[in-house]
Amino acid sequence: MSSATRLYLSNDTSARAAGAGLLADAWADRPDVQLIRLSSRGAFFLEPMVERDSPDGRLAWCNVQPEDLPSILAGTGGTPVRSIPFLANQTRFTFADFGETEPLALDEYQARGGLKGLEQAFRLTPDAIVEELRVSQLRGRGGAAFPVWNKWKVAQQAKGRPKSVVANADEGDAGTYCDRMILEGDPFRLLEGMLICARAIGASRGYVYCRQEYPAAAVTLRAAIQKADEAELLDIDGEPFPIEVVEGAGSYVCGEETALLESLEGKRGVVRARPPYPAQAGLYGQPTIVSNVLTFATIPQILSRGGAWHASLGTEQSRGTIALQLGGRVKHPGLVEVPFGLSLRQVLEQFGGGMAPGSRFKAVQVGGPLGSLFPAAGLELPICYDAFAKAGAVLGHGGIVVYDHETDMVDLARHFMAFTADESCGKCTPCRIGSVRGREILERIQAGGGTLEDLALLDDLGETMKLASLCALGGRAPYPVLTAIEHFPVEFRSKLRT
Ligand SMILES: Cc1cc2nc3c(=O)[nH]c(=O)nc-3n(C[C@H](O)[C@H](O)[C@H](O)COP(=O)(O)O)c2cc1C
Repeated sequence: MSSATRLYLSNDTSARAAGAGLLADAWADRPDVQLIRLSSRGAFFLEPMVERDSPDGRLAWCNVQPEDLPSILAGTGGTPVRSIPFLANQTRFTFADFGETEPLALDEYQARGGLKGLEQAFRLTPDAIVEELRVSQLRGRGGAAFPVWNKWKVAQQAKGRPKSVVANADEGDAGTYCDRMILEGDPFRLLEGMLICARAIGASRGYVYCRQEYPAAAVTLRAAIQKADEAELLDIDGEPFPIEVVEGAGSYVCGEETALLESLEGKRGVVRARPPYPAQAGLYGQPTIVSNVLTFATIPQILSRGGAWHASLGTEQSRGTIALQLGGRVKHPGLVEVPFGLSLRQVLEQFGGGMAPGSRFKAVQVGGPLGSLFPAAGLELPICYDAFAKAGAVLGHGGIVVYDHETDMVDLARHFMAFTADESCGKCTPCRIGSVRGREILERIQAGGGTLEDLALLDDLGETMKLASLCALGGRAPYPVLTAIEHFPVEFRSKLRT
C-alpha cells in the first residue's frame, strides 16, 4: 500500500497564476505526496490552496509556498474548508462541486448527482422540459437576461433544420471568469445543459464558441467531449449530437450572439440586424439557441430538482442564484454564488472583505466594460435585474470591479470609450463613428483642452449611441462614461480648459 498522502491542488488557470503550478513542479518527485489536481473553489485570494482529507472533512492550507510541505504532511496548521467564511456564507448550487472533483472524472460527476437532469429530460416530453424552465423563471446569464424558456419555445416551434445549440464561451467582459471556471473545472455540467437543450428543441449539433484567451479551457473541454462521446452520452433519442469546440480570434463583439454566429460560419464577426432572432434563424439561417455557459450549467439542476426549486430562490424578477466575480481593488477577489437580492455593499464587505490594503473605495463597476459606475452612495443597490434596470444599469455577466482612490475617472472613461472604438464591428454608424468621436472628446478633456460644451456633446453623443446602435456594444458604451461624469463631475470639470 502506498504511504503517500493525498493532497488536493487546483489546476484552474487563476490558481496556476497564483502559483499552483510551481507547487506541482516542486513536489512532482516526492514519493510521499500523491497530488490530485481539481477544479478551484474560486477563493482566488487564498490560492494556491492545498487540501487534504481529515475525519472532519477537508483541511486547507492557504497561499502555500513549496517549503510549507512538511507542516501540511504533518497535518499542522490546516483550516477546515467549511469554516472559511468566504466559502461557508455562499449558497452554492452550480458551483457546489468546485474544489471537490477532478474536472474530467465522469464517474465523480455522476456520483455527485451529475446526469440526473439529463435523465429527467429523457423522461419528459420536449414541451414539458420547456415548461419546467418556464416555472424556474431562469433568465439568461450572459448579459441580456432574457427568459430561457421563451427562447427555447421559439426554437422548438421553428421549422428549419438542422437546429443547433451554441454555448457562448466568449466571456469577453473584463473581470469575469465564471464561464472559464466551468469550462476548466466542471465541463460535463455544460455538456449536460447543452444536451438537455438539444432534446427540448430537437437540435442535432452543438458548438462551444470559446474565446482564444482560454487555451486550457479548450483543451479540457475537448477532452470532456471525447469522454462523453466514449460514454455514448452525445446521443439524443438514437441520433448523434456531436459537439465541437470552436475558438474565437480575440474579438469582444464576437460574444454578441449574431456576430458569434457569423464568426462560427467562418466570416468576419459582424453583428446581424435582428429580427430574425437566432432562435428563428441562426447558424446558417437555421434555428439556433445561443446561450451563455453559465446558463447551460444551471439547467441540469433545474431539471433534477424541479423548476419550482429554482423559482423559490432570489427575488421577484430575479430567480435563482447569481455567480458574482469580484475583482479589482477588493481584498478578497473570487467567485461568489449567492441568491439574488444582497446589496452591493453586503457582497463587497461580507465576501470581498473590504478594500485591498492601502486603498480606499472610489467606485465600483458592475457588468463589464459596458456597465455603469457607482460611487459609494450606490452601494445599497440590491443585486437583481429589476433594481439595476431601474437604476439604468445592468448586471451583465456578474463581474464586479472595484476601483480605488488612485483611479483617474476621466482616464477610466476614456479607456472604456477607446475599448468600444477598438472593438466595434463597424456595421452601424452610431457605434463605429460615435465611439471614435467619444474617445477623441475624452482624450481632449484628459489633455486639458476640453470645454463645458464637450461634456454636453458627450451627453448628446451618448443618447444617440444608446438609441440608434444595432447591438448593446454601441448601445451601452456611453454608460460607463456618462455615469463617471454624473458621479465624479468635479474630476471632469477640474480638467477643463478655463
Ligand atoms: C458586445 C457584446 C458582447 C457580448 N459578449 C458575451 C459573452 O462574452 N458571453 C455571453 O454569454 N454573452 C455575451 N453577450 C450577450 C449575447 O449577445 C447573448 O445575449 C447571450 O449569449 C445569450 O445567452 P443567455 O441567454 O444565456 O444570456 C454579448 C453581447 C454584446 C452586445
